[in-house]
Amino acid sequence: MTKAGGRNAKYDFERLVERFNPLADQALKRFAWANTTAPKKLVDSMNYSLWAGGKRLRPMLVLAGCEAVGGKLKDAMPAAAAFEMIHTYSLIHDDLPAMDDDDLRRGKPTNHKAFDEGTAILAGDAMLTYAFEVLSTHVKDATRANALVRELSRGAGMEGMAGGQLLDLEAEGARPNIDTLRGIHQRKTGALITSAVVCGGICGGAKAATLKKLRAFGEKIGLAFQVIDDILDMTATAAELGKSPGKDKAANKMTYPAVMGLIGAKKHAEELVAAAVKQVAGLKAPAALQTIAGYFIARTH
Ligand code: IPE
Ligand code: IPE
Ligand code: MG
Ligand code: MG
Ligand code: MG
Repeated sequence: MTKAGGRNAKYDFERLVERFNPLADQALKRFAWANTTAPKKLVDSMNYSLWAGGKRLRPMLVLAGCEAVGGKLKDAMPAAAAFEMIHTYSLIHDDLPAMDDDDLRRGKPTNHKAFDEGTAILAGDAMLTYAFEVLSTHVKDATRANALVRELSRGAGMEGMAGGQLLDLEAEGARPNIDTLRGIHQRKTGALITSAVVCGGICGGAKAATLKKLRAFGEKIGLAFQVIDDILDMTATAAELGKSPGKDKAANKMTYPAVMGLIGAKKHAEELVAAAVKQVAGLKAPAALQTIAGYFIARTH
């Protein structure tokens, strides 16, 4: 194992992408609305965003979480698909004029630009709902399906991502404050990332004590992920990001670089990841989780 974020972090992550990304896409192809009779425009809009070229990090975390506890990757496939659906829905809605009002996502016009606002809202609604259909249909063990639905609901819903998105909008123009900011980022981005790791553990049959370690890991890397997102918004190009940079400043968002400076924010993210990596060190096979954690701070898009 290479030290997370160390010299070979990029190489390790690329190997992991080669192993996990085909599985993520396989899961989506298998579980995403095959043979649907839903209105064509709605399905086209859903497919447009789902297949626009996301990094598939949340399905990777589900798979890595399952592997970490000694589970079989095939048992994590429905959850891997469900998380990417929820994440993609969150991006469609995040880009809407009433929210961040963005034109570019995953290197393409945002959903509401390619279609229209009403369609984009409904595509998000449908994808959110469908994620739970996937879990309840394809996870055969009812107890496990129940645990996954609960964990995903909490990560995506009012206690997690949806709540955080409200706080993010509310904080526009407010005076930056580290405690408020941490709360926003933990909810809007950290919560779904945390749930992805925990659900991976649930798919692998992990016990409560192990899930607790996965949760502690997820909370740290989830926060670090959004700290780096804030940094990249200031430092990267549209070509690198596949989304428009400079939007946080323009919208007066509360961000980590605004509070800590670029260097301070990066250092903070590195500390979070270093602490996260330790949390899972004692698990059966933590290398994939640790590699993803390293990528979260080394990434350039
Ligand atoms: C972007 O997430 C939205 C945030 C939570 C910051 P990703 O950077 O994982 O986006 P995709 O899935 O690769 O498009
Ligand atoms: C959004 O954070 C997190 C979501 C829940 C989608 P941002 O608004 O910073 O994400 P980007 O930069 O548009 O991807
Ligand atoms: Mg936003
Ligand atoms: Mg946004
Ligand atoms: Mg951002």
